[in-house]
Amino acid sequence: MASPALDAFFSRAAAHTRDRPTPADCVLAIAPLMLELIERAETFLGPRHYRNDPNHYARHLVHAAPDASLSLYVLVWSPGQWTPVHDHGSWGVVGVVEGVLEERNYVRLSPDRGADEGIRLVRGGVTLMARGAVTSFVPNPDHIHVTGVPPERPRAVSLHLYGRTMNSFNTYDVSAGTRQRVLVEHNES
Ligand SMILES: [Fe+2]
Repeated sequence: MASPALDAFFSRAAAHTRDRPTPADCVLAIAPLMLELIERAETFLGPRHYRNDPNHYARHLVHAAPDASLSLYVLVWSPGQWTPVHDHGSWGVVGVVEGVLEERNYVRLSPDRGADEGIRLVRGGVTLMARGAVTSFVPNPDHIHVTGVPPERPRAVSLHLYGRTMNSFNTYDVSAGTRQRVLVEHNES
């Protein structure tokens, strides 16, 4: 890692992960570290991390722990770019480096018995996260949401730390009531 700030963040986050077996305790301990990391983002983010993609939000790996227990990405959201409705199957801590990131939440009304159909979701609250904001989530029950930037707002850039290498996540078709596992590359949405 090129940055002492990033190095310190990962070693402290890894220690917290080892010491705290529950996702809720992990995000509680790591959220303040993300608050500090945002302030030092310029020490480890270079031009390649700010590349956008005209077709969808851009996702660039910053660092992944060799044992796949932690991974940090920078996401670049051009105006009007959104994720699908999704969850991560992992805990996560998100910090906003630039702009305002918007999160629209969904509430699951049907019990999760592991089936990928018959899933009843309704729209829930919205969160607007300006530069310097930190948010987090835990699985089981999964945090189901869409994230992005409306067309009328400028670009947003955010850091996302997950409790595993984030190479797959669940997407939902709200009207069909179905869930699908999607594999992603590091630099893809
Ligand atoms: Fe997400």
